[in-house]
Amino acid sequence: MRVVFLAPVYPPEMIEYARGLAEVGAAVYGVGETPRDALPGRLRPYLHDYLHVPRIMTEDDVIDRVTAWLRGVSVDRVVANWEPLVILAARIRERWGLPGMSVDTVTAFRDKQLMKERVAAAGLRVPKSRRVRTESETLAAAEELGYPLIVKPIAGAGSADTYKVESRTELDGILVKMRGVGEASCEEYIDGEEFTFDAVSRGGIPAYENIAQYLPKPLEMRSLEWVSPIILTVRDMAHPRLAGGVALGRNVLKALGMGDGFTHMEWFLTPKGEAVFGEIGCRPGGAHLVDQMNYTSDIDLFREWARVVCWGTFEAPTTRLYNAGIIFKRAIGHGTIARIEGLGDWLRMCGDSVVEEKLLRPGTPRRNWKNTLLSDGHVLVRHPDWAEAHRMCVAAATGIRMYAEP
Ligand SMILES: Nc1ncnc2c1ncn2[C@@H]1O[C@H](COP(=O)(O)OP(=O)(O)O)[C@@H](O)[C@H]1O
Ligand SMILES: [Mg+2]
Repeated sequence: MRVVFLAPVYPPEMIEYARGLAEVGAAVYGVGETPRDALPGRLRPYLHDYLHVPRIMTEDDVIDRVTAWLRGVSVDRVVANWEPLVILAARIRERWGLPGMSVDTVTAFRDKQLMKERVAAAGLRVPKSRRVRTESETLAAAEELGYPLIVKPIAGAGSADTYKVESRTELDGILVKMRGVGEASCEEYIDGEEFTFDAVSRGGIPAYENIAQYLPKPLEMRSLEWVSPIILTVRDMAHPRLAGGVALGRNVLKALGMGDGFTHMEWFLTPKGEAVFGEIGCRPGGAHLVDQMNYTSDIDLFREWARVVCWGTFEAPTTRLYNAGIIFKRAIGHGTIARIEGLGDWLRMCGDSVVEEKLLRPGTPRRNWKNTLLSDGHVLVRHPDWAEAHRMCVAAATGIRMYAEP
């Protein structure tokens, strides 16, 4: 089993997928921008071979180089788990005639308007939306959809350049900010709580499913620095409140022709209890979401993903044992982390429920919270009881305080 795995170094959790592939018996051919000499030591044992390319995003160039590199080698799979590379992986598969999702299928997991059109065509509830390329198209869409609305890039990530717009006056200001963004999606604002629906699928049928709740919604996590974002996996996925989301998730995978691998969907639960589609990617969630799923079921999804992709089987138990919550912290002030308060009390309160404590240590420069949800580090807790897990998450969000100084 020879597998080409794009970008095995970045984002850092890609090393874990490379490990998974190697552990299920694949020879891993990595392709990335990191020079060979600079490959992390942890990754090296999992790679069978590696090709350094000047720019991983320059698709035609990468396709030519990889094709020349592997001429005469019989490759079985080409995969990528980082959003910007899923189409490139599909293009290489098509060029070489390999199994896996086509460029057309994968494009519907990238293009936020196309995905909504295909999901809606299957009779599922999506926000009303329009693809807009110019200011006048945006104004016309706003006129038609009414306020509040959301304007966001057609192939965005991490809530970048995403705005909730309440009025025409606000829209005028936002049009100026959006000038660099080519195509955008202008859509009906959906009020409600926001959740994920994650899956590892075989032929579009989930072998493993997960739901996590965002507290607050990602757009607020990204707009309000003082917030300590919480993401909490739901142990009891059979809870009646979530039934609509689970059904929506499974049907979206069918509607988009999902094949083998990870998907990360987001959906809204409205105050009336309706599940509304948000977006989906054919790759795992980032920001440690897969670690959270692993803590939820005490399994190794990095390896199980690889098993599904290589051999079409999933062997881990799918029983959900815990609600696993991650809490990202943002220091008050600029510069370098100076001190952390409240951590000792919180650790004592939570005891054995704490599974990770990775706050940046004093002396470390702050991360840019706008660029990465990882912020200034995180703590991760898990508990079989939702209310207890939720309480511990909120206690970390409010009780642990980090301070930075220039
Ligand atoms: N139609 C919508 N109604 C309400 N909130 C939305 C809508 N679209 C996006 N959002 C908010 O913006 C966030 C980012 O949008 P999303 O489509 O998920 O893009 P990204 O790829 O940047 O994650 C969502 O998680 C949600 O909080
Ligand atoms: Mg999103």
